[in-house]
Amino acid sequence: MINSKREVARSLKPLIKMDLATIEDLLEVPPRPEMGDLAFPCFTLSPTWKRPPAAIAADLARRLADKRGDFWERAVAAGPYLNFFLDPQALGRETLAAIFKEKGRYGGATTSNGRRIVIDYSSPNIAKPFGIGHLRSTVIGHALSLIYSALGYHCIEVNHLGDWGTQFGKIITAFKLWGDEKRLQADPVNYLFHLYVQFHRQAERDPSLEDEARLWFQQLEQGNPEAEEYWHKFRGLSLENYQRLYRLLGIKFDYFHGESHYNRYLEETLALVKEKGIAVESEGALLVDLDKHGLPPCLLQKKDGATLYITRDIAAAIYRYRRFKFDRALYVVGAEQKLHFKQLFKIMELLGFDWADRLIHIPFGLIRFKGGRMSTRAGKIVLLEEVLEKSIGLARAIIEEKNPGLAEKDRVAQAIGLGAVRFGDLSNDRIKDIEFDWDQVMDFAGETAPYVQYSHARICSILRKASPPEAEKIGELSGLLQQEEEATLLMLLGLLPERVVQAAQAYRPSLIARYLLEVAREFNRFYHNCPVLDSEPALRAARLLLIDGTRQVLANGLGLLGIEAPEEM
Ligand code: ARG
Repeated sequence: MINSKREVARSLKPLIKMDLATIEDLLEVPPRPEMGDLAFPCFTLSPTWKRPPAAIAADLARRLADKRGDFWERAVAAGPYLNFFLDPQALGRETLAAIFKEKGRYGGATTSNGRRIVIDYSSPNIAKPFGIGHLRSTVIGHALSLIYSALGYHCIEVNHLGDWGTQFGKIITAFKLWGDEKRLQADPVNYLFHLYVQFHRQAERDPSLEDEARLWFQQLEQGNPEAEEYWHKFRGLSLENYQRLYRLLGIKFDYFHGESHYNRYLEETLALVKEKGIAVESEGALLVDLDKHGLPPCLLQKKDGATLYITRDIAAAIYRYRRFKFDRALYVVGAEQKLHFKQLFKIMELLGFDWADRLIHIPFGLIRFKGGRMSTRAGKIVLLEEVLEKSIGLARAIIEEKNPGLAEKDRVAQAIGLGAVRFGDLSNDRIKDIEFDWDQVMDFAGETAPYVQYSHARICSILRKASPPEAEKIGELSGLLQQEEEATLLMLLGLLPERVVQAAQAYRPSLIARYLLEVAREFNRFYHNCPVLDSEPALRAARLLLIDGTRQVLANGLGLLGIEAPEEM
């Protein structure tokens, strides 16, 4: 599709005097196939041509009437659009050739574009468990990083750990009162969480605990050695636990720069805020009035000197720009922090940073898990670790039932289990809330990773019986794929590069997930209606090419979502 875009752009260029890249960017895929394969929106020309878009479309169609390109056969005006109809034969050949040439890279770019994107994601809060609520940030952030990397961007993955803040005052207080070193060492994360919950329960009856906790946090901010020692211990133990999870998920952060990392820059940050005159001091507290910008005021420093989450985010943004000179910086954080990021971005703008518009919040909805939102304080939380273990266990049970003789059962169960959870998230529009349902995410025939993985494994099993022909045969064989099922599948395979670009532009990995479901569905329909191994030799060879291409597309697409594609399952 990418090449055909280029080719259409090339045909348009002499007529409209825009550069190729701009035309390519403007070309869209029409909503319905009968409208054509690529559409050029003529609104863009209206201001310079000083004519209505529909007249421009008609004019261009007239001038292209007796022409055709290598990949397109007809150009037709439809209202303000100029629609191109591609030549399916040429397109199919081009698609297969691209897949076999680019292999694991098909769908992405073959070269780097030199752009840098900082992706801040996952970022759990220490002393609180890594709940399934953080799952979304983790899988969406990781997928965005994989997608942008495939498109040639340099992604810098940062985990903005919540390793500073009042919760440390609380767990230090709780640990000093009720702490049990043995239990802490045995199961640190759950135990710290237990202390945190206990603290809140007790503080309801005895509010003086809150004062004590505030005092401890203050001590920590002032560098009291005892407080620091607790902090180190709690942080270290929690980090080990997170790292285990990330290893399991195949995620590697470039930096674990938590909130505490920015403490050393806070003084400078606050000085800058004062110097720029955007903050007011009131009773020792420092506050930015954002009323003029339709936002509530934003506290940067409390009167006891304590700084806040947003103060550290201001310092972090400055630090990141200085260090990475990013073209874009993404914050993959739940929609409940929308206001926080609006305030943050506005403050960066008021501080005069011309890169403030490169900061982008990527919000997402909540995960509901068997009813009710999870809350750390109430102690009702589903641990991600437990979810992943459960998922892998379920996958394992299904394998035992369906394919007990399978080699490497554990590895495959892990690929399916983790894939099911990831896809269960990523196949939904990120902004929507998700109802997490085990039966649904594990359904091998549903809209799930196991369904896509199973289709992939099915192809691998056919290809173990017969290898596809050499890529040089594509030219002569692709023309045999004339049946409707074959043409549809082939057309879909050609759409991967387009989908990857769209998913990146809209920050929506779900576009790739939905696309994979479509490919898997079309493959299964094809396979149901068109025999592969039992066809006569030339057609059999052509169909082997087609399914091998499908296999590659499924594997690449799953890979962009961080999901493995086992060859057998
Ligand atoms: N730790 C935060 C939370 O769990 C998320 C941090 C997101 N990143 C940021 N730069 N604010 O709510």
